[in-house]
Amino acid sequence: MLPKSSTVSAKLNSIERKCSSNTLHLPPFSFVPHVNRLWLLLFIVSLQITIIFMARYLPLHHRRIHVSSPEPHPCSSGRIYVYNLPPVFNQELLDKCDELNPWSSSCEALSNGGLGRKATSLSGIVPEELIPAWYWTDQFAMEIIYHNRILDHKCRTMEPDSATAFYIPFYAGLAVGKYLWSNYSSKDRDRYCEMILKWVQDQPYWNQSGGWDHFMTMGRITWDFRRSKNEDWGSNCIYMSGMRNITRLLIERNPWDYFDVGVPYPSGFHPRSDSDILQWQNFVRNRRRKTLFCFAGAPRGAVKNDFRGLLLSQCKNASGLCRAVNCAGTGCSNGTSAILETFLDSDFCLQPRGDSFTRRSIFDCMIAGSIPVFFWHRSAYLQYQWFLPSESKSYSVFIHRDEVKTGRSIKNVLESYSIEEVKKMREKVIEYIPKLVYAKPEKGLESIKDAFDVAIDGVLKRNKEHEQPGYKWRR
Ligand SMILES: *[C@@H]1O[C@H](CO)[C@@H](O)[C@H](O)[C@H]1NC(C)=O
Ligand SMILES: *[C@@H]1O[C@H](CO)[C@@H](O)[C@H](O)[C@H]1NC(C)=O
Ligand SMILES: *[C@@H]1O[C@H](CO)[C@@H](O)[C@H](O)[C@H]1NC(C)=O
Ligand SMILES: *[C@@H]1O[C@H](CO)[C@@H](O)[C@H](O)[C@H]1NC(C)=O
Ligand SMILES: *[C@@H]1O[C@H](CO)[C@@H](O)[C@H](O)[C@H]1NC(C)=O
Repeated sequence: MLPKSSTVSAKLNSIERKCSSNTLHLPPFSFVPHVNRLWLLLFIVSLQITIIFMARYLPLHHRRIHVSSPEPHPCSSGRIYVYNLPPVFNQELLDKCDELNPWSSSCEALSNGGLGRKATSLSGIVPEELIPAWYWTDQFAMEIIYHNRILDHKCRTMEPDSATAFYIPFYAGLAVGKYLWSNYSSKDRDRYCEMILKWVQDQPYWNQSGGWDHFMTMGRITWDFRRSKNEDWGSNCIYMSGMRNITRLLIERNPWDYFDVGVPYPSGFHPRSDSDILQWQNFVRNRRRKTLFCFAGAPRGAVKNDFRGLLLSQCKNASGLCRAVNCAGTGCSNGTSAILETFLDSDFCLQPRGDSFTRRSIFDCMIAGSIPVFFWHRSAYLQYQWFLPSESKSYSVFIHRDEVKTGRSIKNVLESYSIEEVKKMREKVIEYIPKLVYAKPEKGLESIKDAFDVAIDGVLKRNKEHEQPGYKWRR
């Protein structure tokens, strides 16, 4: 959903250079004096020894129960206050859903609390009992989904004084959507963001922390909010001074900005219960996969040496071992059953960068139990750290793009993995599916934590860390 990728990547490169100088790099604990660190280390080591020692004397089933038991105090990380914004910042945007983009109405796509149209046409592809859990969800619907869920969050408080986190339910992505296109002025693109920052800075709870305990969802890629020159792409929302200390949940982050947090793109599967998840995990685990790898994407005919074109041609060359879905024309973001079927039928899926570094397809692929193959570190490893295994090799394959450009065969790389290795990686992908999906019930699932839960827990934990001495900007 961006203009020509060559201009964008040129722009992104310049943005990166810019960002790396004016954003904050804050490894936790870096301010803690060495003496404290040593004690902390000793404490952790002794704790581990104690745990290992005790674990040996527990019967096996007991150990399992112990590991999976929920935290004793569900809100021990703090409570969330949700601002009650003037409707112009959220509900009115939804009410005018037929004006959100210049081409077509978004009303259907954003219906059902942001989950979209029901995907009844998946009949025969996914287990019948799970069809009601599938929707044609729009990749930019995340602001609505988070808002609905947070209103029902068990740690929501109506008392701002008892809150450790303040959520600003502004639909930043929906608000800027239509102004990104045609010839709207930069002023048009910035208007909503200026309005919300003014509004929130007028609230009594802002000044307690200068925004450090505030967060918002921005349902598009970060580059849509990082315009540096008037004539460039996007709004300059993230560069506005009021934004400085606000944590932003985005579907693609700037890896050099501490305040950007990458969260999974919304995809089509919205489990209604723990049992939906378990059933789906079994389904993808036992699926007989017919092809080694697959690629769903559109080559950019106009772009010289287009990387996706290269992947498509490698895919064609691999004949029976690779299946391609050509998304040119219709576009795949709408979600078609052909794509889901392709992921379900392949051991690996190729995930090059698209117009930006990330794609919704990464999540569609993994949810289908297919192992992602990345060519850029920034496509996932530097994006979704809260949601993916820290050991990237455990669930994915990395082939540097330059190796592909100089003729390395993807087929050969993937064929070098043994059946056992593939099975192990797939099991890791399956284990992480819950963290990559957004559950249907507004209260969340019974005991399994989904992407929303992980994101909110992460925000609360961060806010605690911010209270440590030395964390915030120096005055
Ligand atoms: C914006 O686009 C419209 C329709 O394409 C055109 O009539 C108008 O002159 C343009 N305005 C500017 C400032 O370019
Ligand atoms: C917050 O602090 C700023 C600067 O100190 C001040 O201008 C503003 O009026 C304060 N806002 C509130 C709501 O107290
Ligand atoms: C951001 O936080 C710092 C303190 O860490 C504060 O000095 C500054 O005013 C805050 N920015 C805004 C816009 O409130
Ligand atoms: C595909 O195969 C043809 C014929 O063997 C070869 O010339 C071409 O370089 C191959 N393309 C890729 C991308 O491997
Ligand atoms: C998405 O697909 C459905 C069914 O294939 C079609 O009716 C609808 O117009 C498509 N929407 C967009 C935005 O392409």
